[in-house]
Amino acid sequence: MTRMGIIGSGSIGSGLARLGVAAGSEVMIANSRGPETLAELVAELGSGAQAGTVEEAAGFGDLTILAVPLSAYGSLPLEALSGRTVLSTGNYYPSRDGRIAELDSLDLTTAEYETKLLPGAVIVKAFNNIVAHHIPSLTRPAGAGDRSGMAIFGDSDEAKALVAGVVGSVGFDPVDAGPLAESWRTEPESGAYTLIYAADPESFLSNFSADMGAPLPAPRLDDLVTSSSRAAVAEREF
Ligand SMILES: NC(=O)c1ccc[n+]([C@@H]2O[C@H](COP(=O)([O-])OP(=O)(O)OC[C@H]3O[C@@H](n4cnc5c(N)ncnc54)[C@H](OP(=O)(O)O)[C@@H]3O)[C@@H](O)[C@H]2O)c1
Repeated sequence: MTRMGIIGSGSIGSGLARLGVAAGSEVMIANSRGPETLAELVAELGSGAQAGTVEEAAGFGDLTILAVPLSAYGSLPLEALSGRTVLSTGNYYPSRDGRIAELDSLDLTTAEYETKLLPGAVIVKAFNNIVAHHIPSLTRPAGAGDRSGMAIFGDSDEAKALVAGVVGSVGFDPVDAGPLAESWRTEPESGAYTLIYAADPESFLSNFSADMGAPLPAPRLDDLVTSSSRAAVAEREF
């Protein structure tokens, strides 16, 4: 059983918390407003979950999950995250995060930039290329014929193995997609971003929240990641 601290209790953080608890993990979840604001969520999650401060969640258990806007990474507790495996779900949206020169210039992937913001943390990228409501709708037990793959990027095999175990336990087949330098392959507007999990790509583009997703087997995901094209990040308008 993995104990995980989750920073961010929005769409992605609460969704992964639900799946983590369902898989038998102990979960501590935090947000920007303090543990007392998480009472309702923790009651819903049940006895496997507790609320904590950001600092407490950063140091809780075996794995820390970041489900916060990229603009918040710079204020996360460096010391508590140092040496830890950190699963980052973050993406760069300039309209929310401000323009970041190293990302616009393609000098760094978002995950490499996060490593600069969080020196000492062992960043692993996953769950950044799937819309939040597709995560629970596509989760399946191990061995199910319609299980979907989930791409994992990282520079540490040990950290990737830990995250692969968690990805598997919450209902996806992990796909080792390479180092952080390659993680542009699943960034927004790349060839392997959220559209790949859509049931109907055309209607997903006009109303993504109505699309419940369709299984994407790991070998197909692997192909899409391999053939992905890098987005022109400087031209991003959202
Ligand atoms: N939503 C999606 O479909 C999706 C898909 C793929 C990737 N992502 C990425 O995943 C990340 C999370 O997205 P989301 O949609 O879950 O966001 P969200 O629903 O807006 O939730 C963000 C959470 O981050 C917390 N937060 C913000 N600043 C913080 C700080 N300084 N310290 C601690 N907590 C902080 C917020 O706390 P409060 O609740 O107190 O405000 C909130 O709980 C983002 O980087 C996003 O780009 C999202």
